[in-house]
Amino acid sequence: MLVVEELKKGFGSGSSRLEVLKGIDMKLELGELVALMGPSGCGKSTLLNIIGGLLPADSGNINLNEKSYGLKNPSSVVDIRRESVGWIFQDFHLLENLTAIDNVAMALELSGMSSKDAEDAARIALIKVGLEDRMTHIPDQLSGGQQQRVAIARAIAGNRPLLLADEPTGNLDIASGKEVLQLFKELCHDEDNPISILMVTHDPDLASNADRMLLLTDGVTKASDIRSAWGIGGEEE
Ligand SMILES: Nc1ncnc2c1ncn2[C@@H]1O[C@H](COP(=O)(O)OP(=O)(O)OP(=O)(O)O)[C@@H](O)[C@H]1O
Ligand SMILES: [Mg+2]
Repeated sequence: MLVVEELKKGFGSGSSRLEVLKGIDMKLELGELVALMGPSGCGKSTLLNIIGGLLPADSGNINLNEKSYGLKNPSSVVDIRRESVGWIFQDFHLLENLTAIDNVAMALELSGMSSKDAEDAARIALIKVGLEDRMTHIPDQLSGGQQQRVAIARAIAGNRPLLLADEPTGNLDIASGKEVLQLFKELCHDEDNPISILMVTHDPDLASNADRMLLLTDGVTKASDIRSAWGIGGEEE
């Protein structure tokens, strides 16, 4: 469903020019949970931003569900952002005065849904992430793990086929992080309505529980196993 080809991106010019992505080739199948690892500053967030249509690359191509982009300006990939890609961040990005259901519903209303439909879809999404008994709580009344699940409900409520998660468990304790990963797996492997998730993580333990791991180093991605991610084995492919 997602194909990234020869994607390159650098920042700055002249002697301060920094080539970050030097030819990324990767694929995601529908229903796959893929963990993206790599040292700080190697370009993981940059890659996610380009795939999510927030940043144009310098060269290369992205194909997501038959739509081609990658070099286009963010203003001309509105449809990708609205219909195809959901985001999950480390710090949840919830509106603190809104209840769980309103946080999810508001995102849908912004994309043009009627209030009634948005509330119905928000309720379904919150049930799916296991928060049926927390719908009218505001973020302050929820644990970190629960807040992240509200953010996940918001990301899946619009039926977007691809979720991009940038260190989604970075602010969670180990147990809540594992629960988020389990939820990601259930969402990807849902037979009736599978999605794909590309998740950046620094936690090798979580990454090894994904369907597949990719390691981003020196501007390119490689398939990886748990040993190479820890830098203790010579088993990179
Ligand atoms: N808008 C920008 N202008 C200039 N340099 C940038 C810009 N965005 C990112 N960079 C640089 O590109 C490199 C990759 O940054 P990026 O945020 O993608 O790394 P990362 O792999 O997500 O790191 P971390 O694990 O710390 O989140 C860094 O050296 C960063 O300073
Ligand atoms: Mg980052």
